[in-house]
Amino acid sequence: MLEREFLLKLAADYGTPLFVYDGDMVVERYNDLFRFIPWKKLRIHYALKANYNPALLTLLRDAGAGLDTVSPGEVHLALKLGFSPEKIIYTANNMTDAEVEEVLATGVVMNIGSLSRLRKLAKSHPGLDLCLRFNPDVRDGDSEKTMTGGDLTKFGILLESVDEVLEIVREGKFRIVGLHEHTGSGLQHAESVYQSMENLMRIATKANFPDLQFLDFGGGFKVPYRPDEKRIDYVAMGAEIARRFREFCQERGEELAMCFEPGKYMVAEAGYLLTEVNTLKRNRSRLIAGCNAGFPQLIRPVLYGAYHQIWNLSNPQGKPEVYDVCGNICETGDRFAEQRELPEIREYDILAIGNAGAYCYSMGGVYNLRSMPGEVVVSRGRVISERPRMSSKELADRILAECKSK
Ligand code: LLP
Repeated sequence: MLEREFLLKLAADYGTPLFVYDGDMVVERYNDLFRFIPWKKLRIHYALKANYNPALLTLLRDAGAGLDTVSPGEVHLALKLGFSPEKIIYTANNMTDAEVEEVLATGVVMNIGSLSRLRKLAKSHPGLDLCLRFNPDVRDGDSEKTMTGGDLTKFGILLESVDEVLEIVREGKFRIVGLHEHTGSGLQHAESVYQSMENLMRIATKANFPDLQFLDFGGGFKVPYRPDEKRIDYVAMGAEIARRFREFCQERGEELAMCFEPGKYMVAEAGYLLTEVNTLKRNRSRLIAGCNAGFPQLIRPVLYGAYHQIWNLSNPQGKPEVYDVCGNICETGDRFAEQRELPEIREYDILAIGNAGAYCYSMGGVYNLRSMPGEVVVSRGRVISERPRMSSKELADRILAECKSK
């Protein structure tokens, strides 16, 4: 964790609410994966939907990372930041024709997850290099809403459709350079990772695409959110991943590249949302701590029932009390934590909400017309990048400027 005093200083210097990201931890996470998964041709495509902060992306670019992108906006941001097209894979779902053209023009390889889009491409763009996304048929993840395998989800081509795929690939004269699957976010069981790999490797063996360069096993590496949650033994998991992939490559007779697309694993624990408590209220049995941020700025507790650790930075030794930690949005469900024991909170205390690096700012909005918090990235004890919070007046002006009367 970043030092308490340092976080308090950032809160004082920049004001709250404020996201703080530890850039060094993100780079360390990236490098760790190469230690954990002993495979020479390992490629890590960071899933930038988790956090698209340009300074973090620049650190990862310099470390050698590739990117998993899901919209033309993400592709353009990546290219503008200097990621070369070969380092980027495009895995959108329900793509429009216009979006396909826009991405193809950039030279980024597309990952196709539906027979319908594959058929359309066979007519419009025969001969393309493509990656194919299969549905691994394994259900796992930290929330029903983020499991992407199985027939209840919209993602990927079913494993049993492989013959149909082969027919369209022949028709379209595609060069299939990659196969892909993504099982879910926050995978709870190592076994799910292995099972999904096996299911995809079976397809690769059965279909024997001659131009295959890589197999991409998606993201989903879990990190602890609760203080008592065990950390996965990634050394053991990485060794098993490499063992299984080696077996597959030996059978195939060539060493392919292996890709993963972690988002949460890379950035979740590197981020904090600093927020100030401005109102304490005792509602009969409930003690409510009212903060100057709300669910549009950190939506995971409300959307997924996710647990985020909270620290009272200003009074760490305070006598423990049980709080509902609430936001400043006009909705009852606007809570970061319910009935959470925390050191005594006083008005003007600064709280840090943990694991705020992944899917917090990037999923944010300005509901109730409260601006998104500012963001700072720190490295080696100093701020290397800052994005100031938009003032309320600037936000109002932006809305008026965007909407033109006719
Ligand atoms: N690859 C694909 C194709 C994905 O759809 C995703 C995430 C990832 C990689 C990265 O997954 P990760 O390593 O971050 O678990 N908003 C949710 C998570 C949604 C994940 C969406 N796709 C949350 O806050 O838990």
